[in-house]
Amino acid sequence: MHADPARQFGDNVGMLGFLSSPIEVIAAAPQGVETDLLVVPVFENDNPGAVAGLDAATGGEWSRALAACELTGKPFEVLIAPLRDGWAAPRVMFLGAGSATRFTHETASRLGAAAALVARQRRVTRIAILLRHCVDRPTGAAIDERLIQATAEGLVLGQFETAVHKSSAADARRLEQTDIVIRRDEHSGALQAAADRGRILGECANDARLLANEPANVLTPAVFAERAKALACGTKLRVEILDEHRIAELGMGLLLGVASGSAEPPRVIVLRHEPAGAPSDVTLGLVGKGITFDTGGISIKPAEGMDRMKSDMGGGAAVVGAMRALSRLHVPVHVIGIVPATENMPGGGAVKPGDILRSASGKTVEVLNTDAEGRLVLGDGLWYAQQLGATHLVDVATLTGACVVALGRWATGLFGRPDEWVDAVRQAADRAGERAWPLPVDDDYFDQLKSEWADMSNTGGRPAGAITAALFIKQFAGDLPWAHLDIAGTVWVDDAKPWQSKGATGTAVRTLVELALSQPQWPDGASAKQSA
Ligand code: BES
Ligand code: MN
Ligand code: ZN
Repeated sequence: MHADPARQFGDNVGMLGFLSSPIEVIAAAPQGVETDLLVVPVFENDNPGAVAGLDAATGGEWSRALAACELTGKPFEVLIAPLRDGWAAPRVMFLGAGSATRFTHETASRLGAAAALVARQRRVTRIAILLRHCVDRPTGAAIDERLIQATAEGLVLGQFETAVHKSSAADARRLEQTDIVIRRDEHSGALQAAADRGRILGECANDARLLANEPANVLTPAVFAERAKALACGTKLRVEILDEHRIAELGMGLLLGVASGSAEPPRVIVLRHEPAGAPSDVTLGLVGKGITFDTGGISIKPAEGMDRMKSDMGGGAAVVGAMRALSRLHVPVHVIGIVPATENMPGGGAVKPGDILRSASGKTVEVLNTDAEGRLVLGDGLWYAQQLGATHLVDVATLTGACVVALGRWATGLFGRPDEWVDAVRQAADRAGERAWPLPVDDDYFDQLKSEWADMSNTGGRPAGAITAALFIKQFAGDLPWAHLDIAGTVWVDDAKPWQSKGATGTAVRTLVELALSQPQWPDGASAKQSA
């Protein structure tokens, strides 16, 4: 079908979804744990006596390194030492964990990821991480299941492989077993379930990362749709792919306008999660920006760094990953995922500044800058979510450089209404270990979007660029509770970190799943009207 060998290779990558190593929660004394590398977090001002027998089994290496300031507990410090005196593991890896009192779920996740990354670099295939916060806690204190979940998530995120298109990919460094060690007297049934949840969330975030890292010659809109379909295999998700003819029939003029400069036809990916017994009057609609490459179109971008725009479908990838997780975790709420997918290219048929497009909702838009394409495809996507019965909306998009200017790479921009819905999303992000920070979307900004020739224009100029983009999208959210996540700054990291490889982060997958899990607390759909 595809003559290009690179594309054929790409088609076969990751078809069945990311598969991580098994994670077992082991309630045992650390000396008995059968593994190749026992990972032991070390805190600032730690005490080498804290893990019984360990310092002696290293021949005093822990106390020596502590005295020599070689192991201070600084985050992600690594020291590997052999173990003797009858410990089942041949070696221990001390891993700096920072302050014991400021240890959060996010720290746990990062430690898990760092442990997996270091192990893979050193060609170790079996690791076991000692969960000190669960082991050292006072007797009688409840074990923190979320800590186990976060550790498992990290162990999986750290197994993500970025070299899928290198010819050396065949000798990829894979872990075969990653265990979590807790206290010997602990019952591990519910804790194993927490680890399984974390593993699924990590795998689905990795699915999103793989998609967002793919080059645009591999991941065209049609291939994106095929990949989404393949990822839904083995789950109960219903998949429907709208092709260019169906998109035209539905009147999605904004999506078609963006697609018109490209040789690749657009697609709309529709995924439905309809678990039996879920409340029948609530449906979450998730809409993800699926620009498989953003050249800017006729308002073309500068050459420098344009390669990054292969990840301009990161919001769409997050929706696909989240839908897969919702299904695998049997989350009891109806959810529809919609990804309008297209390239944004200059070409003979491309939209030109000044062109007027008609959206599926009937509103007309004057395109003043063809590089403001994300809001256009989201407009039609949000309309379609309402057609399919959504009662609550969230869109996820790499929408604006202005959001990166405002919040940098630390937090995702959060917009929406009513406040209760925005708060629900923000809290979900917090629980997920991802940060979303609220910005206003007041209608007073609409002056910037006024057009002489159409109902609105697609750009509001430089001031408040992230806000006017959100306000544009708001015009297509009807009266429903709606939230918008601008992930332009958080979708990608340029510099690898000890816990994260360079490239796509998979951000928003876990936030969306946490949000769906919180459904009993959602505001009533009607409340949006009052505070809109
Ligand atoms: N995909 C870009 C936004 C982006 C920038 C994502 C940097 C990730 C990193 C978006 O389509 C875009 O080009 N936005 C323009 C809007 C402007 C023309 C109103 C921008 O932010 O400059
Ligand atoms: Mn653009
Ligand atoms: Zn874009």
